[in-house]
Amino acid sequence: MSISIRPVHPVFVGEVTGIDISRPLTRDEVAAIEAGMDRYAVLVFRDQALTDDQQLEFSRNFGELEVTLAGQMAKPEDRRLGDRLELGDISNLNARNELRAREDRSRMYALANRLWHSDASFRAIGAGYTLLHGRVIPGKGGNTEFADMRAAYDALDSDQKAQADELVTEHSIVFAREQIGFTDYAPGNEDRLRPVQHRLVITHPVSGRKSLYLSSHIGGIVGWPVPEARALIRDLAEHATQRQFVYSHEWRVNDLVMWDNRTVMHRARAFNDMKEVRDLRRTSIKGTGLEVQQARAA
Ligand SMILES: [Fe+2]
Repeated sequence: MSISIRPVHPVFVGEVTGIDISRPLTRDEVAAIEAGMDRYAVLVFRDQALTDDQQLEFSRNFGELEVTLAGQMAKPEDRRLGDRLELGDISNLNARNELRAREDRSRMYALANRLWHSDASFRAIGAGYTLLHGRVIPGKGGNTEFADMRAAYDALDSDQKAQADELVTEHSIVFAREQIGFTDYAPGNEDRLRPVQHRLVITHPVSGRKSLYLSSHIGGIVGWPVPEARALIRDLAEHATQRQFVYSHEWRVNDLVMWDNRTVMHRARAFNDMKEVRDLRRTSIKGTGLEVQQARAA
C-alpha cells in the first residue's frame, strides 16, 4: 500500500488513498501529505476510523496544535469533549450529549460557521491547516464548502491585483458574528475580540502562489472608511466564491478532510439541527506567522 493523491475538482482538492492515518506515519508519508497540501489546498481521506487521540496524534505530524477559542471561552462544565482544548467540538450537541436547544448560545455562536471564513483569522497568527473528522453525519445537508483563494486571486484583473496587494485588513470574531446578529459574549473575553491585522494578499511559503486572505472576520481595511472597506471585501468575497472556485464536501462517517486556511475559505451548510445529529471533531495547526510578518513588512 503506498500513498497516492488524485484530483477531485478542476482547480484544487485531492483525495488521498493508500494510507491508514490511525497509525504512526513515516516521514515520507508526512512529506507526501504536505506536498499534496501545497498543491491541492484541500485533501480528503475516506474510511479513516479515528479516536480523538488518534486524530490528535495524526494532526501533530504537521505542527503545533491550536487551542480552540470556543473551548477557551466555554465554562469547563459546558465542554462536551472534556479538558482536551486542542480538540474542537463541531457538533450540535450540548455537554449532556443532547441536541442543543434552538436558543442555546453555543448553537447561535456556531451559526457564524455558515459564513465563508478562514479559521482563526481573528488571531494575530491564524490557523495553518485545519483537520475535520466526521463521526456522525446527518441524512441531509451539512456539507462543508471550500473556495480556492489562489484561483480567485489569479482571476482578478491586473488593476484589482495591484490594489489588493497593498491592502491590510482588520479581523475580529465580532465582525463575523455581527453579520448574523450575535453579540452575546461572556465578560472577560475583550482581549480575544480585539481586531488584528493581516495582509489581504499572502504568498504561500512553498508554492510561491498568491492568495486572497479573505474571511467574514474582516471588518475594515487600514486607512479606509469602514463602508468603503466592507463594500470592497464583499465584492471580493462574491468574486472568490463563484462556483468554479468551490468544492462542496458531502460528508460520510470516518472522512477526514484537511485544508490550508491560507489558501482556501470554507463554510458549513445548513441541516436540520433540531432533529438530526452532526458530530465532527476539529484540530487546527498553528499558522507560521507568515501573515503577520507580511503585514509588518507592509
Ligand atoms: Fe471553520
